[in-house]
Amino acid sequence: MNILGIETSCDETSASVVRNGRVVLSNVVATSLKDHQKFGGIIPEIASRRQFEYINIVTARAMETAGVALKDLDAIAVTESPGLIGSLVVGRTFALSLSYALNKPLIKVNHIEAHVYAGYLVDKTESARDLLLEFPLPVVGLVVSGGHSSLFHIRSFHSFRVFGQTRDDAAGEAYDKVARILNLGYPGGPVIDQLAQSVQDNDVSFPCAPMAGTNDFSFSGVKTAVLYYTQRHAKSGFSVNKVANAFQESVVSVLVRKSVDACLKKKAHALLVGGGVAANSTLRSRLTEHAAAHGVKVRFPSMAFCMDNAAMVAGLAYHKKTSSC
Ligand code: KG4
Ligand code: ZN
Repeated sequence: MNILGIETSCDETSASVVRNGRVVLSNVVATSLKDHQKFGGIIPEIASRRQFEYINIVTARAMETAGVALKDLDAIAVTESPGLIGSLVVGRTFALSLSYALNKPLIKVNHIEAHVYAGYLVDKTESARDLLLEFPLPVVGLVVSGGHSSLFHIRSFHSFRVFGQTRDDAAGEAYDKVARILNLGYPGGPVIDQLAQSVQDNDVSFPCAPMAGTNDFSFSGVKTAVLYYTQRHAKSGFSVNKVANAFQESVVSVLVRKSVDACLKKKAHALLVGGGVAANSTLRSRLTEHAAAHGVKVRFPSMAFCMDNAAMVAGLAYHKKTSSC
């Protein structure tokens, strides 16, 4: 079964063809990131206009790369929410029109649930691998993106139950805001990740609220601690790399501890991590190590499927379609 996925929730315009919810035949992503960088964040009106300009060409390229004709698609899947309304509406209208014109079912997918599902995707080179057998449900999902930091208990692909989330900033949002404080540009995650690697011994540290007794997160305090530190040391100077490293240590240690604790509480043997922050090198290594020590297997998507992409949408849609048929 070939499903065409369309993802336009923010500044990425993506189309992808996924076979049987598992094998990614194509995944084309265009981004308007450069148009937003000078503003230090995403400008919704610009993002929406670019979505409109890119959607046709991105979809045509995804179909061509997959080598699948429009008539041979089994369904069209699209991100329904959450996201920027002006961006979402472009993808939704495009997908609805295509589904109507081709007389194929339209499957609407939640963007955050799709981020968790990204861990089950493989590319053509790994097509023999079935990650659903390696990481069978029920699992715990952790989504750490620019807009969300949530823990899910997933018993079936129709039942993603949120049982922990951020009370304020999302993890990626904290990275972006700290990068802005440090004048590192937008987005902040990749550059902070890279700068943090250069620090071995760090005499700087920041607290991150443990939110003890809950499954929730809070990242606005650590961001404020960074702001106050830079203000206090504005005259004497400070090491940007050490601040980046201390901030990252603080965020990663909370994510690692709370997500593994969540798996133990839910008696889940596997943890699926998704969203842009899942690309973070320290999170990937620390979480894998800490989880293994507690008998939990962790699955991170390949880098291409951490950021916003349509493959995760087409992949999850397969389970919605097959079980509703
Ligand atoms: O999932 P995503 O592409 O978009 C949303 O749905 O929000 O995530 C984007 C977020 C940004 O906040 C970005 O700074 C963060 O992911 N990010 C990272 C890294 N790469 C991207 N955060 C930490 N480390 C990274 N390597
Ligand atoms: Zn996302």
